[in-house]
Amino acid sequence: MPAAITCVEDLRAMARRRVPRMFYDYVDGGSWTESTYAANEADFARIKLRQRVAVNLENRSLKTRMLGQEVAMPVALAPTGNTGMVHADGEILAAKAAEAFGVPFTLSTMSICSIEDVARHVERPFWFQLYMMRDRAFIRSLIDRARQANCSALMLTLDLQVPGQRHKDRRNGLTTPPKPTFPNLVDLATRPRWCAGMLRTPRRTFGNIVGHARGVDSISTLSTWASKQFDPTLSWQDVEWVKKLWGGKLILKGILDPEDARHAASSGADALVVSNHGGRQLDGAPSTIESLPAIVDAAARQMEVWLDGGIRTGQDVLKALALGASATMIGRPFLYGLGAAGQAGVRKCLELIASELDLTMALCGRTEVRSVDRGILLPGTFPTAQRTHHRAH
Ligand code: GLV
Repeated sequence: MPAAITCVEDLRAMARRRVPRMFYDYVDGGSWTESTYAANEADFARIKLRQRVAVNLENRSLKTRMLGQEVAMPVALAPTGNTGMVHADGEILAAKAAEAFGVPFTLSTMSICSIEDVARHVERPFWFQLYMMRDRAFIRSLIDRARQANCSALMLTLDLQVPGQRHKDRRNGLTTPPKPTFPNLVDLATRPRWCAGMLRTPRRTFGNIVGHARGVDSISTLSTWASKQFDPTLSWQDVEWVKKLWGGKLILKGILDPEDARHAASSGADALVVSNHGGRQLDGAPSTIESLPAIVDAAARQMEVWLDGGIRTGQDVLKALALGASATMIGRPFLYGLGAAGQAGVRKCLELIASELDLTMALCGRTEVRSVDRGILLPGTFPTAQRTHHRAH
């Protein structure tokens, strides 16, 4: 890994050069004007930290637990679609990097490498993310496959039953794999490493779905499949149904409103993820860090509350913890690492975030990540539950 890689932004620049335009843009894009995507990052940047001195800073620890499982730091890899198009065998490489580092990996329903394939390449259990689809027999079979593969938690995503429009994907004519059009061939010609990897691997389509869902022998785009198959009638009763069917640890992802957090809390799920899908769904929705305090108030007594969206440094992780999240998830940062340098790039991303988290915590005068609270933040610079008051309906 070049010494010039000093932060996630450097990985992003490298990924931009190495990953074909349509898949880089798929990762890097948000919906419509991308205002929520931008707010996720900007709202973190506004929060100020309190510098403290003359505190014993020896023996610091980033270790904590997520769903009872010990983690090297409170950061899990979020489920992301098309990951095996960012780099050949991407999900396997990311799962291996996460396992070696000691953080959880979540496999997306819309992954390229299948559940079974990832399971064959790692020792420890990973998590599986599920979308509720119209075909309930297929949902049953996915849940069964996740159980067979020894997945230790199921993450049900609630905020993509209707896919948000991403302008970049439309303009690029995103398909998986890319079609051999003239602009695509010109683009691919400048990404020889990516092409070489893809030519070596048999994994070039949605491995959990193609050949598994009834009547599906190809899917060209995630968004077309989502708009046809993802079930827009999804309700809290369906959440209940999934919980029963799975019978293990359940995480609900895509909660952004305290009213929904209360529903999540009474559903009996084990954790929720405050998420706006990285600004890829409802453009104009608030940032996740702004939404966090009111959701912590509404649900953190009953379940673990995690956050994703906008985390680009260990400082952002620390700010989320200070505002009451017990852990976080990252999507784009690890994908930049993956696109930049495969498994080593994901490892580098995790190392960067861990070292930023550790240093920032120390400079705030703390030694234990588990005991971080809002006392490390400068009053008046961070969102509170009151400032994000939401009217019940
Ligand atoms: C899928 O989860 C996406 O955001 O594209």
